[in-house]
Amino acid sequence: MEPPVTETQVAIIGAGPAGLMLSHLLQREGIASVILESRSRAYVQQRVRAGVLEQGTVDLLDELGLSERLHREGLVHHGLLLTLDERRYRIALTELTGGRALTIYGQQEVVKDLIAARLAGGGEIQFEVEDVQLEALETEHPRVRYRQQGTARELRCAFIAGCDGFHGVSRPAIPPGVLTTYERHYPFAWLGILAAVAPSTEELIYARHARGFALHSLRSPEISRLYIQVDRTEELGDWSDDRIWNELRLRLAADGFTLRDGPVLEKSIALHHSFVVEPMQHGRLFLAGDAAHIVPPTGAKGLNLAVADVRVLARAIERWYRAGHTEDLERYSERCLGRVWRVQEFSASMSALLHRLPGTDPFEDRVARARLEWICRSQAEARSLAENYVGLPWD
Ligand code: APR
Ligand code: PHB
Repeated sequence: MEPPVTETQVAIIGAGPAGLMLSHLLQREGIASVILESRSRAYVQQRVRAGVLEQGTVDLLDELGLSERLHREGLVHHGLLLTLDERRYRIALTELTGGRALTIYGQQEVVKDLIAARLAGGGEIQFEVEDVQLEALETEHPRVRYRQQGTARELRCAFIAGCDGFHGVSRPAIPPGVLTTYERHYPFAWLGILAAVAPSTEELIYARHARGFALHSLRSPEISRLYIQVDRTEELGDWSDDRIWNELRLRLAADGFTLRDGPVLEKSIALHHSFVVEPMQHGRLFLAGDAAHIVPPTGAKGLNLAVADVRVLARAIERWYRAGHTEDLERYSERCLGRVWRVQEFSASMSALLHRLPGTDPFEDRVARARLEWICRSQAEARSLAENYVGLPWD
């Protein structure tokens, strides 16, 4: 028996920031989409990830009318603190970028807001779908076959947006030989905790320390988010809460600074990985976000880069529907990759600047420290970091 068939204009695989933002951008243009997500709604809303939104990401959420809770609960930041040898230096982000700022708001909060608004606006998100298979990508009528609660289904569409993250099925659906992969694995990871304690700092602290990198971030007046560099082979089980807090205390130390600790609500280890595929398109399948590229978290760019991709994609699809233009679709990959590589370079250089690698040649170590010190002293260097950190303008 043939499976029940649904038709839409754009089939979106994945309800992460990329897929959800895309569905909102398309809806604004009157273009229909259906999102297929393999996890449950509760799971995607609780998945703890980063939480730094660039100015452009916030502006886009404003434009779409999706930022009411973000402005109520998000924390606007105008600077960040770099630490070398227990001395703090402030990078005045807003002053150095002509008034731009960043907002701290957990990625899962963005996801919650986008899901609620999409469903309230009559959008379709199917959670807990299984066995997603993309077909006929090289035709004008691609299809997605999947199962929902055991029933086989088929979604017919004009375009498929592969927004299913690094481990999704969209990228592997592209035939061998089409994509070129560029990647780098780093010899370290971040152990991150979410803790029920008021942040000990008003601005993010990035610390380079002889024991390894540490980062103090925030989520709310009552919740802190902190990270330490660990070896990529470390196991979470070897890190008791006390051991983590002790390490954080040592690495974040500075004159007059006291780190408050508190109950750990969540902890996890994330490996650092840089990854890009080119092109980000094959036939009627367009990859966006983590499905096409991964950056190490040091520059806090993952979510912002995903949003930048779908902004380009939504416009290209809209121009195709409105005026039959194919040029923007054809240039999708090239347009996204310009920003992707800029951000790859920034994230890799922030990582190199702030991490101490086990067994680093002492000369390299001194050079990296001299570079960090120069960024803290030279306004031109600080401005370059600030421009990248708050996010480059669109296009
Ligand atoms: N079918 C359907 N959905 C899938 C499948 C599949 N086969 N595989 C994965 N997914 C879903 C995941 O469960 C997840 O909800 O796709 C979604 C992908 O979301 P993200 O991984 O969050 O990726 P993206 O939307 O590109 O967001 C960018 O920024 O901070 C970074 O890595 C971080 O998630 C973040 C990313
Ligand atoms: C976070 O708040 O989770 C965060 C902040 C800055 C980063 C990465 C993650 O560079």
